[in-house]
Amino acid sequence: MIGEDERVLAPLNPADPAFARDPYPYYAQLRAQGPAARVALANGTHAWLVTGYEQARAVLADPRFSNVPPQRAGRPRPESAAQRARECLARHMLNSDAPDHTRLRRLTTAAFTPRRVNALRPRIEHLAAGLVAELAEQLARDGSADLVDGFAFPLPVLVIGEVLGVPEADRKDLREWTYRVGSPADALEQGAVEEAWARLHAYFTELIEQKRRAPGDDLFSSLVHDASEGGLDDGELLAMAFLLLFAGYETTMNLLASASLALLTHPGELAAARRGGEEHWAAVVEETLRHASPLEGTTWRRTTQEVDLGGGTVIPAEASVLVVLAAASRDPEFFPAPDAFRPGRHLPGAEGGRPAPHLAFGHGPHFCLGARLARLEAAVALPLLFEGLPGIGLAADPDALPYRPGLLVRGPRRLPVHAPAAQAPSA
Ligand code: HEM
Repeated sequence: MIGEDERVLAPLNPADPAFARDPYPYYAQLRAQGPAARVALANGTHAWLVTGYEQARAVLADPRFSNVPPQRAGRPRPESAAQRARECLARHMLNSDAPDHTRLRRLTTAAFTPRRVNALRPRIEHLAAGLVAELAEQLARDGSADLVDGFAFPLPVLVIGEVLGVPEADRKDLREWTYRVGSPADALEQGAVEEAWARLHAYFTELIEQKRRAPGDDLFSSLVHDASEGGLDDGELLAMAFLLLFAGYETTMNLLASASLALLTHPGELAAARRGGEEHWAAVVEETLRHASPLEGTTWRRTTQEVDLGGGTVIPAEASVLVVLAAASRDPEFFPAPDAFRPGRHLPGAEGGRPAPHLAFGHGPHFCLGARLARLEAAVALPLLFEGLPGIGLAADPDALPYRPGLLVRGPRRLPVHAPAAQAPSA
């Protein structure tokens, strides 16, 4: 057995901008030492990071790795609306284990049928086309625009608005509050983040009431309706509304932004997608999910007992464990030339046969509930973006783009582009 001490590496600093931009060399180094390793973090704590593909799948399917956050007993009752909103959010199914999770998941899956999700296609087309038209205007007027601000961020929020059945007039608010609660507290004026949490809490509480009085044909109405027949209770419904918003927005935003960046920096692949049509765009989406995993790591797990992962790796009980999806989907044992962006590997008849399934949507009981929706959204929106804005170019050095720090989500924060005729700035 490999001793714990041999596995201790240099402290990992998730706040380091260079690491946030490109964590892959670090993960490759870590994987080379073993598929799961105990790592010292810059904040003085330790965690086990799982970077091997096979071991990542094993951990995600193993009930000895719990999703329930450590006990909150003894904590004072939340006093402000913002704290109540956060507490409520913590009650969602991603933070639960079987049998609670099984019940929540069963009740929710019923609302996410393929038919229901596919029915959103015309609305997604409409919303994406509207944003592309706004971007085209901005490019014509100013000569430049930001694809994150004008496309990758607003589209997922608008689509979740469809899922939740939020009236169109309210979506600007939803977009603003989501933006605020997703920002670091010190990035905005004092109280702005707290206020946004409180507003979201009040808004969702009222939304549930409204759906109860007058259900629509949206997916969330069916959850509220099922709730009256013995399904989710009020707190669970509220947590579900938050979960859908948060699980579905930043992840999909990163997928759209990373795919756009990959295509802008791989013009041959963009041309191939344009020629290849639907099947090829779907391959671009799959390859982006593998190559630039929108969730860098899963949510944290905790071992309920000692777990022997085989090959001499033993994780003790009560250890914090992070499955690094980004690393697992670039495991060279399963993905040849893992660091290359090659959508062709997902096309039927690709050399070497069908690739292993990437892990961007996780694996096991918590496998992403919105995977079909996310894939649909990207496969609809990306061709509309590149058809609607032909000839746009990246207006920044791709190796200097800012990324949000942390181990959970990963994608560019800004994606400045210029209109076809304009020149990229020299600096
Ligand atoms: C590119 C976009 C997306 C990615 C990469 C993604 C990825 C993931 C991953 C990796 C998990 C499992 C996390 C874990 O095991 O700790 C997850 C769970 C989940 N996702 Fe997504 N997601 C995306 C979009 C969405 C969307 C659009 C929705 C819904 C509107 C959604 C709803 C959920 C829910 C409800 C769960 C919890 C499932 C459970 O606990 O059983 N996701 N997602």
